[in-house]
Amino acid sequence: MRDAPDPGVLLAWYDMHAREMPWRIGPAARAAGVWPDPYRVWLSEVMLQQTTVAAVRDYFRRFTALWPTVSDLAAAEDAAVMGEWAGLGYYARARNLLKCARVVAGELGGRFPDTREGLLALPGVGPYTAAAVSAIAFDRPETVVDGNVERVMARVFAVEAPLPGSKKELARLAATLTPAERPGDYAQAVMDLGATICTPRSLACGICPWMADCAARAQGVATDLPRKAPK
Ligand code: ADE
Repeated sequence: MRDAPDPGVLLAWYDMHAREMPWRIGPAARAAGVWPDPYRVWLSEVMLQQTTVAAVRDYFRRFTALWPTVSDLAAAEDAAVMGEWAGLGYYARARNLLKCARVVAGELGGRFPDTREGLLALPGVGPYTAAAVSAIAFDRPETVVDGNVERVMARVFAVEAPLPGSKKELARLAATLTPAERPGDYAQAVMDLGATICTPRSLACGICPWMADCAARAQGVATDLPRKAPK
Protein backbone atom coordinates (compact mmCIF):
# COMPACT_ATOMS: atom_id res chain seq x y z
CA MET A 1 0.00 0.00 0.00
CA ARG A 2 1.05 3.56 -0.67
CA ASP A 3 2.52 5.36 2.34
CA ALA A 4 0.43 8.11 3.85
CA PRO A 5 1.90 11.53 3.02
CA ASP A 6 4.64 12.42 5.50
CA PRO A 7 4.11 15.72 7.37
CA GLY A 8 7.87 15.90 7.98
CA VAL A 9 8.54 15.94 4.25
CA LEU A 10 6.10 18.81 3.81
CA LEU A 11 7.70 20.72 6.69
CA ALA A 12 11.12 20.33 5.08
CA TRP A 13 9.66 21.72 1.85
CA TYR A 14 8.07 24.61 3.77
CA ASP A 15 11.40 25.47 5.36
CA MET A 16 12.77 26.01 1.86
CA HIS A 17 9.75 27.42 0.05
CA ALA A 18 7.38 29.11 2.51
CA ARG A 19 5.87 32.22 0.98
CA GLU A 20 6.96 35.39 2.71
CA MET A 21 4.00 37.07 4.38
CA PRO A 22 4.05 40.11 6.68
CA TRP A 23 2.47 38.14 9.54
CA ARG A 24 4.80 35.16 9.28
CA ILE A 25 8.01 34.62 11.18
CA GLY A 26 10.82 33.67 8.79
CA PRO A 27 12.87 30.50 9.35
CA ALA A 28 15.90 32.33 10.85
CA ALA A 29 13.83 34.26 13.39
CA ARG A 30 11.84 31.15 14.20
CA ALA A 31 15.03 29.18 14.79
CA ALA A 32 16.04 31.96 17.20
CA GLY A 33 12.84 31.38 19.17
CA VAL A 34 10.72 34.27 17.84
CA TRP A 35 7.03 33.44 17.93
CA PRO A 36 4.20 35.04 15.93
CA ASP A 37 2.04 37.63 17.68
CA PRO A 38 -1.47 36.14 18.18
CA TYR A 39 -3.01 39.52 17.32
CA ARG A 40 -1.27 39.55 13.94
CA VAL A 41 -2.16 35.92 13.27
CA TRP A 42 -5.80 36.53 14.14
CA LEU A 43 -5.98 39.71 12.04
CA SER A 44 -4.38 38.03 9.03
CA GLU A 45 -6.64 34.99 9.23
CA VAL A 46 -9.80 37.10 9.46
CA MET A 47 -8.67 39.12 6.44
CA LEU A 48 -7.66 36.00 4.48
CA GLN A 49 -11.09 34.42 4.80
CA GLN A 50 -12.48 36.44 1.96
CA THR A 51 -9.46 37.67 0.08
CA THR A 52 -6.29 36.40 -1.53
CA VAL A 53 -2.91 36.64 0.15
CA ALA A 54 -1.79 39.17 -2.49
CA ALA A 55 -4.69 41.50 -1.74
CA VAL A 56 -4.43 41.14 2.03
CA ARG A 57 -0.75 42.15 2.33
CA ASP A 58 -1.30 45.91 2.03
CA TYR A 59 -4.41 45.93 4.20
CA PHE A 60 -2.53 44.00 6.85
CA ARG A 61 0.41 46.43 6.73
CA ARG A 62 -1.89 49.45 7.04
CA PHE A 63 -3.88 47.97 9.91
CA THR A 64 -0.83 46.99 11.91
CA ALA A 65 0.85 50.36 11.26
CA LEU A 66 -2.24 52.20 12.52
CA TRP A 67 -3.05 49.72 15.30
CA PRO A 68 0.03 47.72 16.33
CA THR A 69 -1.71 45.90 19.20
CA VAL A 70 -5.16 44.54 19.86
CA SER A 71 -5.67 47.26 22.47
CA ASP A 72 -4.89 49.95 19.87
CA LEU A 73 -7.46 48.41 17.54
CA ALA A 74 -10.00 48.16 20.36
CA ALA A 75 -9.59 51.89 21.04
CA ALA A 76 -10.03 52.90 17.40
CA GLU A 77 -13.08 54.77 16.13
CA ASP A 78 -15.50 52.42 14.38
CA ALA A 79 -15.54 54.66 11.31
CA ALA A 80 -11.74 54.62 11.04
CA VAL A 81 -11.65 50.82 11.07
CA MET A 82 -14.53 50.50 8.62
CA GLY A 83 -12.77 53.01 6.36
CA GLU A 84 -9.54 51.03 6.36
CA TRP A 85 -11.49 47.83 5.74
CA ALA A 86 -13.13 49.31 2.61
CA GLY A 87 -12.36 47.09 -0.34
CA LEU A 88 -12.02 43.89 1.69
CA GLY A 89 -15.79 43.42 1.61
CA TYR A 90 -18.07 41.63 4.06
CA TYR A 91 -18.46 44.49 6.49
CA ALA A 92 -20.02 42.25 9.13
CA ARG A 93 -16.55 40.79 9.47
CA ALA A 94 -15.03 44.20 10.18
CA ARG A 95 -17.66 44.88 12.80
CA ASN A 96 -16.94 41.52 14.43
CA LEU A 97 -13.24 42.28 14.21
CA LEU A 98 -13.76 45.35 16.36
CA LYS A 99 -16.09 43.53 18.75
CA CYS A 100 -13.51 40.80 19.18
CA ALA A 101 -10.67 43.26 19.71
CA ARG A 102 -12.74 45.02 22.40
CA VAL A 103 -13.44 41.75 24.23
CA VAL A 104 -9.77 40.74 24.15
CA ALA A 105 -8.57 44.20 25.20
CA GLY A 106 -11.35 44.92 27.68
CA GLU A 107 -12.01 41.55 29.28
CA LEU A 108 -8.92 39.44 28.67
CA GLY A 109 -6.14 41.91 29.44
CA GLY A 110 -5.16 42.18 25.78
CA ARG A 111 -4.24 38.51 25.57
CA PHE A 112 -5.87 36.16 23.08
CA PRO A 113 -7.03 32.82 24.50
CA ASP A 114 -4.51 30.11 23.61
CA THR A 115 -6.94 27.25 23.04
CA ARG A 116 -9.37 26.50 20.25
CA GLU A 117 -12.29 26.52 22.70
CA GLY A 118 -11.28 29.85 24.20
CA LEU A 119 -10.88 31.38 20.77
CA LEU A 120 -14.23 30.02 19.57
CA ALA A 121 -15.97 31.98 22.32
CA LEU A 122 -14.82 35.29 20.77
CA PRO A 123 -17.09 37.32 18.48
CA GLY A 124 -16.66 36.43 14.82
CA VAL A 125 -14.23 33.59 15.49
CA GLY A 126 -15.48 30.38 13.86
CA PRO A 127 -13.94 26.92 13.67
CA TYR A 128 -11.51 27.87 10.89
CA THR A 129 -10.09 30.95 12.62
CA ALA A 130 -9.98 29.25 16.03
CA ALA A 131 -8.00 26.33 14.65
CA ALA A 132 -5.69 28.58 12.60
CA VAL A 133 -4.85 30.92 15.50
CA SER A 134 -4.35 28.13 18.03
CA ALA A 135 -2.10 26.21 15.63
CA ILE A 136 -0.12 29.13 14.17
CA ALA A 137 0.17 31.42 17.18
CA PHE A 138 0.23 28.83 19.98
CA ASP A 139 1.51 25.72 18.21
CA ARG A 140 -1.44 23.63 19.30
CA PRO A 141 -1.97 20.46 17.24
CA GLU A 142 -5.18 21.72 15.63
CA THR A 143 -6.10 20.87 12.05
CA VAL A 144 -6.77 23.85 9.83
CA VAL A 145 -9.08 23.14 6.89
CA ASP A 146 -9.80 25.61 4.12
CA GLY A 147 -10.47 25.10 0.42
CA ASN A 148 -6.78 24.58 -0.33
CA VAL A 149 -6.49 21.91 2.34
CA GLU A 150 -9.63 20.14 1.10
CA ARG A 151 -8.21 19.98 -2.41
CA VAL A 152 -4.85 18.64 -1.24
CA MET A 153 -6.53 15.98 0.92
CA ALA A 154 -8.93 14.94 -1.84
CA ARG A 155 -5.89 14.34 -4.03
CA VAL A 156 -3.36 12.72 -1.72
CA PHE A 157 -6.03 10.31 -0.48
CA ALA A 158 -7.88 10.06 -3.84
CA VAL A 159 -11.28 10.87 -2.35
CA GLU A 160 -13.79 10.33 -5.15
CA ALA A 161 -16.85 11.52 -3.22
CA PRO A 162 -17.75 15.03 -4.35
CA LEU A 163 -17.73 18.27 -2.39
CA PRO A 164 -19.51 19.55 -0.45
CA GLY A 165 -20.69 16.16 0.87
CA SER A 166 -17.10 15.01 1.37
CA LYS A 167 -16.14 17.92 3.65
CA LYS A 168 -16.33 15.89 6.86
CA GLU A 169 -14.29 13.05 5.43
CA LEU A 170 -11.66 15.45 4.09
CA ALA A 171 -11.40 17.14 7.49
CA ARG A 172 -11.06 13.75 9.16
CA LEU A 173 -8.28 12.73 6.77
CA ALA A 174 -6.55 16.09 7.24
CA ALA A 175 -6.57 15.53 11.00
CA THR A 176 -4.82 12.17 10.58
CA LEU A 177 -1.77 14.01 9.18
CA THR A 178 -1.50 16.90 11.67
CA PRO A 179 1.83 16.42 13.46
CA ALA A 180 2.49 17.01 17.14
CA GLU A 181 5.67 18.90 16.18
CA ARG A 182 5.24 22.31 14.50
CA PRO A 183 1.50 22.00 13.79
CA GLY A 184 1.31 25.73 13.01
CA ASP A 185 4.01 25.57 10.35
CA TYR A 186 2.46 22.37 9.05
CA ALA A 187 -0.98 24.03 8.70
CA GLN A 188 0.56 26.85 6.71
CA ALA A 189 2.62 24.41 4.65
CA VAL A 190 -0.50 22.56 3.47
CA MET A 191 -2.16 25.85 2.57
CA ASP A 192 0.96 27.00 0.69
CA LEU A 193 1.14 23.67 -1.13
CA GLY A 194 -2.48 24.07 -2.23
CA ALA A 195 -1.93 27.67 -3.28
CA THR A 196 1.28 27.18 -5.24
CA ILE A 197 1.64 23.54 -6.40
CA CYS A 198 -1.53 21.54 -5.80
CA THR A 199 -3.61 24.23 -7.49
CA PRO A 200 -7.08 23.73 -8.97
CA ARG A 201 -5.68 23.64 -12.52
CA SER A 202 -2.16 23.45 -14.03
CA LEU A 203 -0.90 21.43 -11.08
CA ALA A 204 2.84 21.23 -10.60
CA CYS A 205 3.02 17.58 -9.53
CA GLY A 206 6.60 17.31 -10.80
CA ILE A 207 7.89 19.53 -7.99
CA CYS A 208 5.44 18.43 -5.29
CA PRO A 209 7.08 17.17 -2.09
CA TRP A 210 4.21 14.70 -1.68
CA MET A 211 4.24 13.40 -5.27
CA ALA A 212 5.42 9.91 -4.34
CA ASP A 213 2.68 9.53 -1.74
CA CYS A 214 -0.20 11.01 -3.72
CA ALA A 215 -2.94 8.47 -4.47
CA ALA A 216 -4.62 10.66 -7.11
CA ARG A 217 -1.33 11.11 -8.94
CA ALA A 218 -0.75 7.34 -8.90
CA GLN A 219 -4.24 6.81 -10.35
CA GLY A 220 -3.88 9.62 -12.89
CA VAL A 221 -6.88 11.50 -11.53
CA ALA A 222 -5.23 14.44 -9.75
CA THR A 223 -6.67 17.09 -12.09
CA ASP A 224 -10.18 15.62 -11.68
CA LEU A 225 -10.19 15.92 -7.89
CA PRO A 226 -11.85 17.13 -5.83
CA ARG A 227 -15.06 16.31 -7.68
CA LYS A 228 -17.95 18.69 -7.19
CA ALA A 229 -21.56 17.64 -6.85
CA PRO A 230 -23.70 19.10 -9.64
CA LYS A 231 -25.51 22.21 -8.43
N1 ADE B 1 -4.63 31.16 3.86
C1 ADE B 1 -5.21 31.52 5.02
N2 ADE B 1 -4.32 31.59 6.01
C2 ADE B 1 -3.12 31.26 5.48
C3 ADE B 1 -1.83 31.12 6.00
N3 ADE B 1 -1.58 31.36 7.28
N4 ADE B 1 -0.86 30.73 5.17
C4 ADE B 1 -1.14 30.50 3.88
N5 ADE B 1 -2.32 30.61 3.31
C5 ADE B 1 -3.32 30.99 4.11
